[in-house]
Amino acid sequence: MKFFVDTANLEQIKEAHALGILDGVTTNPSLMAKEGISGTEAVMKHYKAICDLVPGDVSAEVISTDFEGMVKEGEALAKIADNIVIKIPMIKDGIKALSYFRDKGIPTNCTLVFSAGQAILAAKAGATYVSPFIGRIDDISWDGMQLIHDIAEIYAVQGFDTEILAASIRNGKHIVEAAKHGADVVTCPLSAMLSLLKHPLTDSGLAKFLADHKAAADKA
Ligand code: G3P
Repeated sequence: MKFFVDTANLEQIKEAHALGILDGVTTNPSLMAKEGISGTEAVMKHYKAICDLVPGDVSAEVISTDFEGMVKEGEALAKIADNIVIKIPMIKDGIKALSYFRDKGIPTNCTLVFSAGQAILAAKAGATYVSPFIGRIDDISWDGMQLIHDIAEIYAVQGFDTEILAASIRNGKHIVEAAKHGADVVTCPLSAMLSLLKHPLTDSGLAKFLADHKAAADKA
C-alpha cells in the first residue's frame, strides 16, 4: 500500500519525505487556501515546489467545473512536472475530462467519491486513482470503510486497473482499516501517519532497555 500525505504544507511534506516512506502528495483547493496560496501563478509555483520535493505522484486539483475549463487547467498543470496527477471532481463533465486525459496518457485522480456507483464511473473513464472520502462518510454516520471494501471487491471482480486511494483519512485506525479492506493508497495528514508509531508498550519497553543499559554501564 502506498502512503501519500494530504497537505500543501511544504514543511510537513519535507518531514514526511524524510521518513523515507512517502510515495506521493495529495492537495485540494481547501488545503492550498490554508497555506495562503491563491492566483494561478502562485498555485503553479507551489505545485512546482512540491514536485521538486517529492518524486512520487502529486495530485493537483482543477477549479473549473466545465469540460473545457478542466482540460485547459489540467493541461497547464500537467506541464509543471512529470509527477503531476490531475485531480478531477466526480461530476458529469469530470467524467468527460477523465476520459480525455486517459486518451492523452495523463494520470488522473477522481475526487469527491462517496459511492460504489461513482467509483465504477471513475474506473470506466480510466481514472488512475479514485478517491473515496472515508472521514466525511463517517461524519454523516455512514460507514466509510465499507465503501473501500465494496470498491475493492468490485474492481477485483471486474478487473479495473484504477487504484483505490482512501482519502479523508483522519487517524491511524482509518489507515489500518483501509489497508485491511484493500486500499492501494492512503492519503492522510502527517499527524495520522505519525500516530501509527505510538504504542505505550514501545515507550515503556524502550525506557526499560535504556535504564538497564545505563545500570550496567554505571556498574562497569
Ligand atoms: O484531499 C481530500 C481529502 O483527503 C479531504 O479530507 O479531512 O477534508 O475530509 P478531509
